[in-house]
Amino acid sequence: MELTNNTILITGGTSGFGYEFASRLIDMGNTVIITGRDQAKLDLTKKKLPLVHTFQSDVSDPIAIKQLYADVTTQFPSLNIIINNAGEMRKINLQDESIDLDNIVREIGINLSGPIRMVQTFLPHLKTKSSAAIINVTSGLSLTPFPIAPVYGATKAGLRSYTKSLRVQLKNTNVKVFELVAPGANTPLNDQFAGEVDSKSFMEPDKLIDVAIKGIMKDKFEIYPGLARIMYILSRLAPGIIFGQLSKITEKSLAQTNS
Ligand SMILES: NC(=O)c1ccc[n+]([C@@H]2O[C@H](COP(=O)([O-])OP(=O)(O)OC[C@H]3O[C@@H](n4cnc5c(N)ncnc54)[C@H](OP(=O)(O)O)[C@@H]3O)[C@@H](O)[C@H]2O)c1
Repeated sequence: MELTNNTILITGGTSGFGYEFASRLIDMGNTVIITGRDQAKLDLTKKKLPLVHTFQSDVSDPIAIKQLYADVTTQFPSLNIIINNAGEMRKINLQDESIDLDNIVREIGINLSGPIRMVQTFLPHLKTKSSAAIINVTSGLSLTPFPIAPVYGATKAGLRSYTKSLRVQLKNTNVKVFELVAPGANTPLNDQFAGEVDSKSFMEPDKLIDVAIKGIMKDKFEIYPGLARIMYILSRLAPGIIFGQLSKITEKSLAQTNS
C-alpha cells in the first residue's frame, strides 16, 4: 500500500507507537490526525509535530467515537486510513477483592471494544475510498497470555481474532486490514514493569514503527517486528516454554506484592 498522500487517523498518538507513527507518516507526506484523552499531551504533541491535527477523544466512549467520526469526516473528507493504536495495559491481581467490576473490565473498553466500535463507525466512509486501510495494533501477548496482565492479554487475543475475521469479510472491498503484532518496546506503557520484566529485549519504538511502515508498504497483512516473530514461532512450536517464563515473572511479582 502506498504510504504517501493519505489522510490517516491514529488513536492514541501522543506517545509511544502512536507518536512514532504520526511523526513518520507526516514526514512521508500524509495528513495525520491523532487522538488522546489528555488535552495537555495533545497540545505538547502539536508543539513537537506542528503539522499534526489533534482531537481529544476517548476510544472507550461510544458517544465520543460518534463525535470523532462527525468531526473528522467533515474536516478531513479524504480520510482513508485508521490506525487503532490506543491501548492500556495493567497489572491486575485477580485475588484483589477491592477492584470493582467496572475497573476490572476497563482495558476491554479501550483495547477491544474501542477498535471494534471505531471500525464499525468509520467503515462505511473508508469503503467510499479507492484505497483504504485499517491497521490494528495487537501484541506478542495476543499469542500467549501474560498472567500478570490477564485482561490485557484477553483483549489483545480478542483483537487479533477480530482482525483476522475482519480481513476475510473485507476481502472484496478496497479496505485492506493489517495487524501489527508488536513486541515489548520502550514506551510509557511499560513503566509499571520497571525492574520486573527484562527491558533489555525491548525494541525502540522508532525501529518498530520503521518495520511496521515497511510491512504495510509491502502489503504484509500480519507484521511481526523483532521478538514478535520469535514469539509467533514459539507459540506455534512450543507454547509451553514462553507461557512458563511469563508465568514465572507473574508468580514472582505476586509473591512480592503479597509478602
Ligand atoms: N509498548 C509495548 O511494549 C507494546 C507491546 C505490544 C503492543 N503494544 C500496544 O501498542 C499500542 C500503543 O502502546 P504504547 O506502548 O505506544 O503506549 P503509550 O506510550 O502508553 O501510549 C498510549 C497512547 O494511547 C492513548 N490512550 C490511552 N487510552 C486511551 C483512550 N481510552 N482513548 C484514546 N487514547 C487513549 C494515550 O494518550 P492518553 O493517555 O492521553 O489518552 C497515548 O497517546 C497499545 O495498543 C499497546 O497495547 C504496546
